[in-house]
Amino acid sequence: MIRRENNLPDTPLWNALCRQADRVSFHMPAHRQGRVFSDEMIRTLARCDTTELERTGDLAEPEGHVRQAYELAARFFGAGETWFITTGTTTAIRIMLACALREGDEVVMPRAVHMAAVHAAALLGLRPRFVRPNSGKPFRDGQPDAESFIAAMRAHPQAKACYVTRPDYYGNTVDLRDIAEEAHRLGMVLLVDEAHGAHFVAAPEMLPPTALSQGADIAAQSAHKTLPALTPASLLHLSGESIACGRISPRRCASLVRVFQTSSPSFLIAASTDIARAMLERDGRACVERLVHLNRQLSDSLPAYYRRICPPGTDLARLVIDYAGTGLTRAEFAGKLDQSGIDAELVDSRRAVFIPSIDQPEEDYAILSEALCSIRPEKNTVQMDRHVRAIEELESMRDSLLSAEADFLMSPRQALFGSRPDAPLHPLSVPDANRLAAEPAAHIIAPYPPGMPIVWPGEPVTEQHRRYLRMLTAADTGVRVRE
Ligand SMILES: Cc1ncc(COP(=O)(O)O)c(C=O)c1O
Repeated sequence: MIRRENNLPDTPLWNALCRQADRVSFHMPAHRQGRVFSDEMIRTLARCDTTELERTGDLAEPEGHVRQAYELAARFFGAGETWFITTGTTTAIRIMLACALREGDEVVMPRAVHMAAVHAAALLGLRPRFVRPNSGKPFRDGQPDAESFIAAMRAHPQAKACYVTRPDYYGNTVDLRDIAEEAHRLGMVLLVDEAHGAHFVAAPEMLPPTALSQGADIAAQSAHKTLPALTPASLLHLSGESIACGRISPRRCASLVRVFQTSSPSFLIAASTDIARAMLERDGRACVERLVHLNRQLSDSLPAYYRRICPPGTDLARLVIDYAGTGLTRAEFAGKLDQSGIDAELVDSRRAVFIPSIDQPEEDYAILSEALCSIRPEKNTVQMDRHVRAIEELESMRDSLLSAEADFLMSPRQALFGSRPDAPLHPLSVPDANRLAAEPAAHIIAPYPPGMPIVWPGEPVTEQHRRYLRMLTAADTGVRVRE
């Protein structure tokens, strides 16, 4: 338990964090509530919380030791240039898009991107051109295959960039080589949201190849998600080859870091990125090997009503378990994990995603295994069939909505920042979304988890969206709705 600060008036947030500290974390950040660091390092880290001073340097104008840390990271991650972004990949995505595109430019991208990309597109006045399924079949989780990316680029050759999320939340990756080749042939740059893949570089023979190694021009990674770095440490990598051939401008990137990054960046977060890189460089391969083994061992030991999901090209350091065979709803399953003191990264209507830290102890795996094995299916065959069919129907609706054509009544920028005095100031929750009339959405509608937008700002909310949201809400709690 973290020591509580004595003699203070109410500190509800601090108290809540203290209560959180003893749980078994399969959740980001991957330093496991600091357990990955030595006591000595934790004491030192707290003393090092500072910003730009004469002696610490400037993260936005790297010289001396800052430049040295950036260069070590660039060398390790296979980049021409690397920046430490201390305000998350959300910021890194803004910089990445602004680096490659100007106001009004078209960008080929899937509808299903993290909301950071939606908001960046609106802020920058970009025109998204959604990738549609080349085969006519909706994309699984809204994530296009390489052929569909290529077809979309050919259909929109005037676009200036192609934007890919890789891996997705479930660790799945699309092969970028053909996408990169086609993008470059058409004069586009390839931008990759690699928020969940910062660890790939540590063990290329066991994990999917990095975006940079497959031809990406710029890649943004959340160091805090899969590396032992503080929240929300992020890495922005520019490809050396793309700089050399003039496809991207490091000077433009440098000026945009100043635009989007806070003027008081946390050196603590930046230094933790430096440490995470060094840890990964020294121990990364062995850690990944161990995690791949522990993940396999755990999934092999589970009862047959669980199924590990790891198609070819998946991040094997991540654990994705299909729990549909338990017959539990999302809320029930998440509740069971919670009662066992376990924080999963994400639980959707069928899958639980666990992100182990690079040094996740075997005891945590034992606790997870025990918790999973203690959940027993209680439904009979007929009830189970109905349960699985309902999940499949939801998944099919989700995939169709996430693969749908763009339907903008106004631009995302107008919808988000135009004058609509009635617009709520925060993203809509699912029940609020039910009440929407078919007018342009003022905000993104992205049911969480995993938070992919079925409606972009400026698109109408249709009966199909409302039906999906009603069914999703009902499935979460096990309430049956007749449609
Ligand atoms: C795919 C993806 N991209 C971008 C982000 C934003 O990253 P950050 O939290 O580092 O700002 C997230 C965060 O969950 C994400 O999952």
